[in-house]
Amino acid sequence: MVKQKTAWFCQECGMESPKWVGKCPSCDQWNSMIEEPVVKASKSEAVKYTGSKAKPLRLSEISLEDTPRIDLRSVELNRVLGGGLVPGSLVLLGGEPGIGKSTLVLQLSLRLKGRKILYVSGEESVQQIKLRAERVGAKNDECLLLSETQLESILAHAESIKPEFVVIDSIQTISTSRVESSPGSVTQVRECTAEILRFAKQRNVPFFIIGHITKEGSLAGPKVLEHIVDTVLQFEGDSNHYYRIIRSIKNRFGSTSEIGIFEMQNTGLREVSNPSELLISQHKEPISGTAVAATIEGNRPLLIEVQALVSTAVYGTPQRSAIGFDNRRLNMLLAVLEKRAGFRLSQKDVFLNLAGGVKVSDPAMDLAVMFAILSSDLDIPINKEACFAGEVGLTGEIRPVNRIEQRIGEAGKLGFKKIFVSENNQKNLEQPKTKIEIFQAGKIEEVFRNLFQGANK
Ligand code: TYD
Ligand code: MG
Repeated sequence: MVKQKTAWFCQECGMESPKWVGKCPSCDQWNSMIEEPVVKASKSEAVKYTGSKAKPLRLSEISLEDTPRIDLRSVELNRVLGGGLVPGSLVLLGGEPGIGKSTLVLQLSLRLKGRKILYVSGEESVQQIKLRAERVGAKNDECLLLSETQLESILAHAESIKPEFVVIDSIQTISTSRVESSPGSVTQVRECTAEILRFAKQRNVPFFIIGHITKEGSLAGPKVLEHIVDTVLQFEGDSNHYYRIIRSIKNRFGSTSEIGIFEMQNTGLREVSNPSELLISQHKEPISGTAVAATIEGNRPLLIEVQALVSTAVYGTPQRSAIGFDNRRLNMLLAVLEKRAGFRLSQKDVFLNLAGGVKVSDPAMDLAVMFAILSSDLDIPINKEACFAGEVGLTGEIRPVNRIEQRIGEAGKLGFKKIFVSENNQKNLEQPKTKIEIFQAGKIEEVFRNLFQGANK
């Protein structure tokens, strides 16, 4: 018997290596390599799709009018996709288990009345899907449900039903018989997605594919798929909270800076049209000691609430502790406040916490951290509609931060009316579409005067 050729694949990034390594040389992940058979396309399969009628065209010969976007009847989703779903496109929806991916796509499929839809689930039985549909209270007789994990059979159904839109929940449960490895492995996931892509492009049918993200990396993360698909949407949010944010990480047909916000209710996901209710409305009355920072995490802008508590030290040495923020940086900012701005904090305990249990190392947090501390110390609340994006230097100057437009844009989108940034960001600053006042300052005193006018220093 001929021994099948195998190779080692990283479960995180999909890198292939001829032998086992403890740490992936590409993404530096430990213990992520698993052995899988190497797929070689056989000759008969290689010629399977040569019947395509596509021929090379000049740009001028291609008309855009033929490709209207499909309205998904969801303002938030349409916006994130760049104005609706492009026919023939492949959209990957990633997110942690339990975040609501299946609920989102089911509601979407049931909302698209008048269009033939194929909803394939490899995770749930059709009875389970019906129960969920009853829970969200939607009906659509043109939506066909299929519980299947075999790719060939799914595509055969799609071929005969000719749906206008196909949902696959989830790619990790689907397998093709052409590859021997188990469902969810890098090779299976990659092969299945590539096959779906071929189908989608040839028949001009859009696909929504759900992909899991797991921390252990036991399933192939959507990372390997990101190169294949047209659009990658990420569904995120804390499963303990009710809000969910959907953002596009990659979009061949639109901008990646759009976000859509949903609220998980007992009867499914509801669109949140006024997103500022999300972050700030937790406390109705303004509370001292909180400030919102416009940070960037990875390449995504994120607004985070900084909470500070300043109280008189009961013991000789005051305590300083920060959760989610670097302790040394906190001490440095306190020293700057003391030395450069004359605030007496040396006999005070200072506690700092980032809301939602997040950890951030973005230097643009500095300004928000400082003003949360000052607000708590003076017991004066900061305007709820203001946020901050600036690094603070040792001399007390506010230094510019990168990608300021993106931060301002996100703050504006989330309903903030004012953002404090460095005056040195001025050169390349343009007013975003949303109405937000940009306050540029060089020193912390200027921000202080603007925020706490009339307060005793
Ligand atoms: P689900 O869509 O199954 O998540 P995923 O497919 O991403 O794993 O939904 C997960 C959670 O949502 C589940 O814990 C129950 C909750 N949920 C609601 O709160 N309200 C609802 O109407 C539905 C359908 C689910
Ligand atoms: Mg699910």
